[in-house]
Amino acid sequence: MKFFIDTADIDAIKQAYEMGLVDGVTTNPSLIKQSGRDHEETIREISSIVPGPISVETISTTTQGMLDEAEIYQTWGNNIVIKIVMSPEGMQTVKFLSAKGIKTNVTVTFTAAQALIAAKAGATYVSPFVGRLDDIGHHGMDVIEQIRTIYDHYAFQTKILVASVRSPIHLLDAAMVGADVATIPPKTLQQLFKHPLTDKGIEQFLADAKAFQKA
Ligand code: G3P
Repeated sequence: MKFFIDTADIDAIKQAYEMGLVDGVTTNPSLIKQSGRDHEETIREISSIVPGPISVETISTTTQGMLDEAEIYQTWGNNIVIKIVMSPEGMQTVKFLSAKGIKTNVTVTFTAAQALIAAKAGATYVSPFVGRLDDIGHHGMDVIEQIRTIYDHYAFQTKILVASVRSPIHLLDAAMVGADVATIPPKTLQQLFKHPLTDKGIEQFLADAKAFQKA
């Protein structure tokens, strides 16, 4: 299972990458806004840190607009994945780009039917937002399970990228269901290390080590 980091915060990316936990990065307009930095400069910097796929989201609403943006984004690094929203125009864009061998990530998806059409358009990744589904009283992980079943039935190559991950449980469930990738915010990544028995055990070992440590 691949771990992507869901942020445009350079320090957080560097820190997680150095721990060997980052196989790729996902960004979106909200995360770029949060970073308070220039879009191109930020993506170029991320691309120089992480060799894996970096998703960069288009903001046009027309197919031509998305294709024009994709052309520009590809010059920002050699590992750029074009992130495209779920829409008829978006799927047409994915079809054009995938025919040219350009990697795509279909975003803001919430149903297995949307994931099915993303796969038919030739998307490299599909990003279902599990946390936002949970927010409105659905069980987001059910959608991941449905997509896994459908993709396996027909041997679709599109990778399931679980997004809107809010907790270690989301990550665990995604892994149990067989998702290909989870994109994880830095805070959730930190939470993965934590267990009270781990803290207690380390504390005890360090205390006991004092008995034989040389001064
Ligand atoms: O990758 C999409 C993700 O950033 C959305 O997360 O927490 O805003 O629903 P969230």
